[in-house]
Formats: sequence, structure tokens, C-alpha cells
Amino acid sequence: MSSPIQGFSKLDKEAKIDWIAERYTQDPEAAKALLKTYWNNDARLQQLHDEFIENTLTNYYLPLGIAPNFLIDDQLYAIPMAIEESSVVAAASKAAKFWGDRGGFTTEILGTEKIGQVHFMYKGSTAALQAYFDHIKPQLLSDCADLTQSMEKRGGGITDIVLVDKSGELENYYQLHATFETLDAMGANFINSCLEQFAKTFKAGAQHFDGFTEAEQQIEVVMSILSNYVPQCRVRASVSCPVDELTEGTINGQAFAEKFVQAVRIAEIEPYRAVTHNKGIMNGIDAVILATGNDFRAVEAGVHAYAAKTGRYTSLTHAKIEDGVFHFWIEIPLALGTVGGLTKLHPMVKLALEILQQPTAKALMGIVAVSGLAQNFAALRALVTTGIQQGHMKMHLFNILNQFDASSSEKEAISSQFQDKTVSHSAVVNALKALRE
Ligand code: MEV
Repeated sequence: MSSPIQGFSKLDKEAKIDWIAERYTQDPEAAKALLKTYWNNDARLQQLHDEFIENTLTNYYLPLGIAPNFLIDDQLYAIPMAIEESSVVAAASKAAKFWGDRGGFTTEILGTEKIGQVHFMYKGSTAALQAYFDHIKPQLLSDCADLTQSMEKRGGGITDIVLVDKSGELENYYQLHATFETLDAMGANFINSCLEQFAKTFKAGAQHFDGFTEAEQQIEVVMSILSNYVPQCRVRASVSCPVDELTEGTINGQAFAEKFVQAVRIAEIEPYRAVTHNKGIMNGIDAVILATGNDFRAVEAGVHAYAAKTGRYTSLTHAKIEDGVFHFWIEIPLALGTVGGLTKLHPMVKLALEILQQPTAKALMGIVAVSGLAQNFAALRALVTTGIQQGHMKMHLFNILNQFDASSSEKEAISSQFQDKTVSHSAVVNALKALRE
């Protein structure tokens, strides 16, 4: 086994590439050339990307597609989606068209509260701790004045701090549980800075608090960090139409609506199905989150925690038929930003936000929720009618053809051959072989 490298981060980019290619690849020259093929010709743009993370070697492309014709709260949007999976953008576009013809999507913001916690250990009387908290709370807020000033000017800031006793679940464990309004910012830096200031003030103040014994004065702060679980920063997106309007071609509206509602009910009660059902929703959500430079890991973590909030993992969407009207909706927590972070830095993110008409964070919450709902509608519509593979494999056809470097004329010929045939990997490969022979 070779020894670990020292000071890798100090090497320049070329040296890093040489090292990794020579140490870990079969054909170092090919690996180096490949990594460099993905560099941007514009040196300034490349440097910008190099500096987003550490030890950057090159760029990793994802396709950016557009799903047009989304009618959301009476406004038409073209939604940018960054995703590698075929069919997702097509499904979004189809669902947009379908619901655009039936009144569009409606959204409602159910809250915008973000959360952060100082986790600490305290050995002593809970009543004394509560008295100390009541005494120090104004100072917790005032010591953050420099941090909160500009957020407060815009109408946001710290909305509350409470003391939470968790010692029943973990010995000596308590929290400062704080809530924030961060407006159009995702707010992670703002929240974490406030929390670290709370922790400092709280710990220092305890050492001089008369109501504590000497032992009680020694509060041990374990960590201060925002929570990505934001059940009070929530959005609802919905569609509805008379069941008759769901009739399309050979599809009977009433039968379709009933089967669709059953499919949703299954996801509500069966976790194995719920996970795949929600994965399809996240196809739509993550693609917009990525395109707009938001943190998809944070959103994923928060959304799945929300899906499991009752103790059983369940569907994020719901559906019903009431008085002849089909209703389909989603409610999800989303902490998003349209200012700060990558939004002013990444040129593609700036463009995506421009395409979305410079949305506020609230408007983006609605757009993202709609994208998830649309994706779920398209998936369930296919699943309860033709099955998912028909549409999916058609899109997959091009991936297979690309794998074999098919030319445009070969692609055209093979796609027309598969117009009314089932696509499978081997069938496509055989057809291409036959064509080439
Ligand atoms: C595939 O990426 C997503 C689906 O499996 C979602 C679903 O089953 O609802 C099609």
C-alpha cells in the first residue's frame, strides 16, 4: 500500500491532476486529457468554478433543461431543471401542459420560520436554569445586534428563543431553540452566526449568575447549528378539476381519478412505495433546487424528515375526489434562498433566476413545490395507465444510442424503427448492429 500524500491541497491544479491520474488510473494520459476537456475555455469562468470548492480538478456537467408552460398562480413560468435522468423534464413539461389546460397550479405559503439550536449540557436545578435563561434572554438578542441589523431593516431577524429541557431523553441535555425569519436568504450563515453568539453570551453570563451554584455556572456548549428540519417553513401546491375533465383519449376521467387516488393512498400507507413515490417527487424538486443554486442535500434531509413526522414514512402528496372534483396536492418544508450563496456567483444560477423572473424565496418555494407535484402527477398517470417503461425507455433509447456513438442519421432510423416497439437495451443494440451491417 502506498503512503498517504502530504500537502495535496497545496499542489497547483495541474500537479493535482498529474498525481491522481498517475496514482489511480489505468491510462494516466487519457485521464488527464479527459479532465482537461471539461475545463472551460474562459479562464475567469473556470477560476470561479475552481474556487467554489477545494481541490478542484475540473467541472462535472449536468444537463440544464427547460420545462415550459407552467401556469402557477395565474403566471406562466418556464422552469429550469438541472438533472441527469431522462424523462424528468419531458414529464414536467407534459404535466405543465395538462394542468395549464385545466386552470394551472395554485400555491400557498404556510410559514417561513427557520430554526437553529444551541445544544448544551448543564448539571443542576432546572428552575435555576430557567431563571438564568429569563435573565439573559434580552442580552442574547442584544449581543447579536451587529449581526441582525441589516436583516431587521428588511423585516427579518431573530423571532424568538426558548429554553428546551431535553434532560429526560439525554442526561443534562438542554437547548436554546431559536426561530428566525431570513426573508429571501436561505439564511444558513446568518443563523449559524447568531447561534454562535448566543452560545458565547450564554456560557459567559452563566459564570456570573448569582442564582447558580458554582457547579451550575459551568455550562458546556456542545454545538451551535441551524436545523435543516423546517416544518414551519412550508408550502402547499395543488391542482384540481372536475373529474370529467380528466378524460383524455381512451382514458375515462372517473376511472382514472379513482385509480390515481388509490395509487396515492398506497403511498400513504406503504413505506416501500412511499419512498419511490417521493423519489419521483424529488426528481422534480432537486432539479429546480440545483438549477437555482440551492442546497439540495438540506432540502432532501428536511423533506424526508417531514415525510416521516408521524413515525411512519409516508407520501408527500395527497389526492381525493369530492363532489365530482379531483384534488391533488403536496405540502412540503422548503428553506430556499434567492439572494446570497451561489445566487450572485454562479452565472447559470443567475440565469435560472432571471428565467424564473427573479422570484422571492416564497415564490421559489411555490415553483419548486409545483415542480414536485407535476412530476408526481406525470409518474402516477403513467403508472396507473400505460406503465412507466413505455415513455421512459423511449427517452432511454437516445442514451443507449449515444453509448454506441450513433450518428444523427442512425438515431433517426432507429427511433423510427422503435416508434411502435418496446425499447430494450438488447433490441436497440441489435437494431443498430443490423443497420451498421
Ligand atoms: C423514477 O425516477 C421515478 C418513479 O419511480 C417515481 C414513481 O414510481 O412514482 C417513476
